Amino acid sequence: MISLQVNLPGREYKIDIGLNILEKQLPEAVLLNATDHVVVVTNTTLQELYPDCIFNVLKDSGMQVSTCVLPDGEEHKNLATLSQIFDFMMEVSANRKTLMVAFGGGVIGDMAGFAASTFVRGIPFIQVPTTLLSDVDSSVGGKTAVNHPLGKNTIGSFKQPEYVCIELSFLKTLPSRELKAGYMELLKHGLIQDADFFNFTLNHSVEPLDFNYLEQAIFRSCGIKGRVVEQDETEKGLRANLNFGHTLGHLIETHAGYGMYLHGEAVGAGMCFAAFVSWRWNELAENEWELIRNSLGQFLQPVKLANLDFEIFRDLILHDKKANKQAVNFILLKKLGESFIQQETSVEKLWDEFRQFTAKFPEIVELE
Ligand SMILES: NC(=O)c1ccc[n+]([C@@H]2O[C@H](COP(=O)([O-])OP(=O)(O)OC[C@H]3O[C@@H](n4cnc5c(N)ncnc54)[C@H](O)[C@@H]3O)[C@@H](O)[C@H]2O)c1
Ligand SMILES: [Zn+2]
Repeated sequence: MISLQVNLPGREYKIDIGLNILEKQLPEAVLLNATDHVVVVTNTTLQELYPDCIFNVLKDSGMQVSTCVLPDGEEHKNLATLSQIFDFMMEVSANRKTLMVAFGGGVIGDMAGFAASTFVRGIPFIQVPTTLLSDVDSSVGGKTAVNHPLGKNTIGSFKQPEYVCIELSFLKTLPSRELKAGYMELLKHGLIQDADFFNFTLNHSVEPLDFNYLEQAIFRSCGIKGRVVEQDETEKGLRANLNFGHTLGHLIETHAGYGMYLHGEAVGAGMCFAAFVSWRWNELAENEWELIRNSLGQFLQPVKLANLDFEIFRDLILHDKKANKQAVNFILLKKLGESFIQQETSVEKLWDEFRQFTAKFPEIVELE
């Protein structure tokens, strides 16, 4: 097992990463909280694969454990499903001292975190991520959200967990497509901040699972994200670098319909596009752009977007049909391992680049 710490003023927390660690680590962490009631938020898929997993892990701890099972899928990451968590909390008489445990991927973590940040104005919560994406990214950093039909993650809050337990054995049941999608956020951390880490990932493969490699890679990935969050928890500036690939990624998810493409797949296509723009605008060297395209390309499947014109592209990027401003902050690469925020990037210029990109690389994104 390896551990790291995220140090925010007064709210530092530990992340443990390892194989077969949950049974020992989770009860210890839960007992540090002054509570006798744990509410687990999970989904139908995990409840079927790992029936009452957290309940069983905590059964000797003397805690009352109640499990809220939500429907599975990005299309359920919305206010209606969030409401189901609140209904459940009321039914089981949860209160300020109740501890919430998110047991699932990024969708469960984002919704449980949001519920924990707002139920009786905030209760403590612990993340037990079960997908590669949530291991390397969403379980760390404290962003929580649900989607709105017009915009991805537009309703949310900042809520840091008390503890994160990254149990690697859950990856054994994760479908290959999910594994590849999760790998994108891991590669993202190398691309924006650590060329050495990116090269380390190129020398390994995500499949078949190699737990020694994954332990190291997840540790480094969480470390990169954790250090950024420590410096800019609420995204006043620096943290926006973590959104590399997400401008187009979120557009793809919203326009195609939530659940059509996996978050990591959409972000992977978005990172290729952002690297392409970085090269076209003379920031990134051609050989690095090609290396990035080839290395991400092996994990991507083509994204097809129907009926996308400039107006829709602009509205989705700006999240506001009436916006006077026609520019966004866009994350570019200066070189492999170094990103920067291009303030006030013209959406029209991005659209021009996007047209070129889709014409040249329909195997990444195709306009239908
Ligand atoms: N908060 C953040 O900082 C942050 C960062 C990145 C992504 N996100 C969000 O995370 C979400 C994507 O997360 P995700 O990729 O984990 O998707 P997900 O939570 O939908 O999980 C993917 C699928 O795998 C299933 N699953 C989960 N664990 C499994 C296991 N061990 N074995 C078999 N199946 C399993 C899930 O039920 C689901 O069907 C998006 O909504 C994205 O916006 C948030
Ligand atoms: Zn993401």
